[in-house]
Amino acid sequence: MGEFLNDYYNWFTQAVKALEYSVHGRVWEPPYKGLVVVGMGGSGIVGDVVYVLATEVLDIPVTIVKDFTLPKWVGEGWLMIAVSYSGNTMETLHVVKEGISKGVKAAAIASGGRLIELAVKEELPYIQVDSGYAPRSAFPALLLSTLKLLKELGLGLHNDLKNSINVLRNRERADALAEEVIKAVAGRIPFFIASTKYYPLAVRAKNEFNENAKVLAKAEVVPEWGHNDIVGWEGWREPVAAIVFKEAGNEIMKFVADHLKASGVPVKDLEIDGSDYVGDVLKWSQVVGIASVKFALELGIDPRVTKSISRYKAFLKSLLKLD
Ligand code: PA5
Repeated sequence: MGEFLNDYYNWFTQAVKALEYSVHGRVWEPPYKGLVVVGMGGSGIVGDVVYVLATEVLDIPVTIVKDFTLPKWVGEGWLMIAVSYSGNTMETLHVVKEGISKGVKAAAIASGGRLIELAVKEELPYIQVDSGYAPRSAFPALLLSTLKLLKELGLGLHNDLKNSINVLRNRERADALAEEVIKAVAGRIPFFIASTKYYPLAVRAKNEFNENAKVLAKAEVVPEWGHNDIVGWEGWREPVAAIVFKEAGNEIMKFVADHLKASGVPVKDLEIDGSDYVGDVLKWSQVVGIASVKFALELGIDPRVTKSISRYKAFLKSLLKLD
């Protein structure tokens, strides 16, 4: 079980390798009518991060699909990046096939499986990442490959990935921050709260605690938080903790943390530097990943095994009558 923790500690090495992956297949070229990023769970979170980067940089529509079908308005001339670590996720495969039939320019990131088979057959651009990880512990490989593939296809979203990955060098710091997160969430249901820009981190943290530690967790986004969730906290009685991703200089996030503290809620602030988005996302994803794995190990739970996801996937297979 400890090996799984090492997968997270070794994210710097994983990231260095990811920057060296080759792009196979053909290369699409802009202009694109829009960008759609497809994927579920530990692969799908890449789409959330790319969405934030792309909406700040690109002047075309960007959307994420975590479902079986595409919106009607995504079609010919759009670029699709499909991310599935296993390459066998039903929702993702279904959307890619639909996209190809609609004339979308599809591209893929996977460690193998049907998605790579499809990419080879259809001569799509793709990057094949190393196998042997759980999807969520392969996050640097999936994110960095996606950004690399996008750049190769003419949509550069980030200039200096080599510099961004340096945040993953300091595993002692990541470990110390993870211990602080564990202390904050022990015996409580964690509510991860972030601004829209850092919402992918809140979702990532929630998912990591769900999948690795097998606990309930919630992710909330600000400013929407200030229009509903804030009222729920008036009546907080449950054993809960607010974990607030607080980026430097964001007065609204400061208000969120101060308001909850004043209401007596146990609050843990996670300070985000804000100078490099990809660096921040990698750093804090590593911290919450380590925290969730250590939390599981302390409870004697195997963090790698996700029985219920396997059960859901088996159900989908029989429902969709696939072999
Ligand atoms: O982290 C996990 O194990 C899951 O959330 C998976 O990522 C999810 O089930 C989708 O599978 P895949 O990443 O192989 O497409």
